[in-house]
Amino acid sequence: MCGIVGVTGVGNALPYLLRGLEKLEYRGYDSAGVYLANPDGTDFLVKEKGRVSALVAEAQAQGVYGTAGIAHTRWATHGNVSVENAHPQASSDHRFHLVHNGVIENYQELQGQYLADVTFASQTDTEIAVQLVDKFAKEEQLSTRDAFAKMISLLDGNSAYGFLLMDSQEPDTLYVAKKKSPLLIGVSDHGNAVTSDAAAMLDMTADFIELMDGDIALVKPNSVEIFGADGQAVDRKPFHLDIDPAQTDKGAYPYYMLKEIDEQAVVARTLAGHYFNDEGEIVGIGCGIGDTIKQADRLYIIAAGTSYHAGLVGKRYFENWANIPTEVHIASEFAYDQPLLSEHPFFIFLSQSGETADSREVLDNIKRQGFPTLTIANVMNSTLTREADFALPVLAGPEIAVASTKAYTAQIIVQAILAYSLGDVELDLKQELAKVAVEIQAITDEKMTFQAIAESALQNQHSAFYIGRGMDAAVALEAALKLKEISYIQTEGFAAGELKHGTISLIEEGTPVFALLTQAKTAGLLRGEVAQVAARGANTITISSKSLARPDDAYVLPEVDELLMPLLAVIPAQLIAYYATLARGLDVDRPRNLAKSVTVQ
Ligand code: G6P
Repeated sequence: MCGIVGVTGVGNALPYLLRGLEKLEYRGYDSAGVYLANPDGTDFLVKEKGRVSALVAEAQAQGVYGTAGIAHTRWATHGNVSVENAHPQASSDHRFHLVHNGVIENYQELQGQYLADVTFASQTDTEIAVQLVDKFAKEEQLSTRDAFAKMISLLDGNSAYGFLLMDSQEPDTLYVAKKKSPLLIGVSDHGNAVTSDAAAMLDMTADFIELMDGDIALVKPNSVEIFGADGQAVDRKPFHLDIDPAQTDKGAYPYYMLKEIDEQAVVARTLAGHYFNDEGEIVGIGCGIGDTIKQADRLYIIAAGTSYHAGLVGKRYFENWANIPTEVHIASEFAYDQPLLSEHPFFIFLSQSGETADSREVLDNIKRQGFPTLTIANVMNSTLTREADFALPVLAGPEIAVASTKAYTAQIIVQAILAYSLGDVELDLKQELAKVAVEIQAITDEKMTFQAIAESALQNQHSAFYIGRGMDAAVALEAALKLKEISYIQTEGFAAGELKHGTISLIEEGTPVFALLTQAKTAGLLRGEVAQVAARGANTITISSKSLARPDDAYVLPEVDELLMPLLAVIPAQLIAYYATLARGLDVDRPRNLAKSVTVQ
């Protein structure tokens, strides 16, 4: 979703800003813009619809430069995708420029109350914010900091913002503010930066100061001043981020998604190494987590998208291994339609980014109700990990492709390890995870098989199905999401037994139906369902596990413990989605309309 970068004190800021925007592309956006200013009074504003590459070309054509600047990738919320609505937004006299992540809930009221006489150039809530700063600076003779603070004080309590403001009269200063939307200040001895995502600024620094909700900061070439919500100066220490910038490059791979699919074997090994010692005992989970969960009578897993699908699999571990009843909920539903809770609930938030607004809304609600919380996330130091009582890392490494792959399998593994630590399970999970890693590797080594399946089954198709029962039904949902979100083939994931209650009417001659068959208890029933759709013309493609396989199955998975089979069953689906999308000539990593980190509700 929207991304912010700002730089001051590095000589020409333009290359840092443009590289930063390129690093933010993975989050999803539909327009981009940049504003730069110089001490001699010159400044530049360039905005483009579409890709950052268009902005780069235009900025270079115009000979843009500046000793400080701000830049933004926009994912449209208020107002359509257009150059006018792209950020930075400017005040009418072009003294102030502002980029913004988030939503100003009362922007129309503010417009009516304070800006009735102003002509607006865009339909964005952000323009109201920058026009207000201009108005207060001019009419009330306020300093830029005070005008900025006054504008912020007028925003509705539910508003979310990460703001980065420049005043052309102070061309080296970045004015920063944040609430409910992540912003970091990057510090170095050769200039300072502001960003919504550390990955965007790693070329310049790995030392970041995290801003808290309500903070306002002034970032200059050689100094950073931060004021807390009460207006008093605060001292916030930088932390060092240990990310190898190479991890965010795709190396020799044509797309991040393929690289991330391949990384899953390594991630499984990393997790086993992190959470178990050499004797096979669990070490990476603090006892506070286990003790608190053991007092719970029910677990509530809260998540969105792919993370929700990982939760559907995780539920089986908590119920089978830890013997704790577990419910899995879609965050955006739970937030406004909270079900009756058990007497002693424990909440687990699953998230790749740790920033998903829907999940954060639930966490806020749950904290107010005083229940214990744990976040399992890939991005530690994210809002969800900071604000929950406990946090466990997913350790998948940066996931750049919008379609989540390695974060899904890693979230499943962390849930399995946590459930295992709570119960008395006979299985040697550490050893089993080593086997999982070997088998994931074996499946990913057979890419040509999945390319062939994708090209023969999905070419010229406009719809498809994934079916399964039990854990396979949970994987079918994720498999269908992978295929539909990047290839745009309308795909349904289905509990196979439900097909006959309505959806089977959609089966036509040649409709691809992928069946996932890894659970012995229901294998016979699923075979029956495959036969039912085949009898109605479906092109059935069965992916089965070794002990349940039949000769005409399209692919036979190696076998690990049955409860861990989702970790293998999803890999063919990821690869089929990848190759189906490639065959359609689409951008695998950046599907239309989607964002990697969804920071609005
Ligand atoms: C977006 C992404 C999905 C992701 C979902 C939840 O929609 O495109 O891939 O599953 O958000 O995100 P989270 O970071 O909380 O796992």
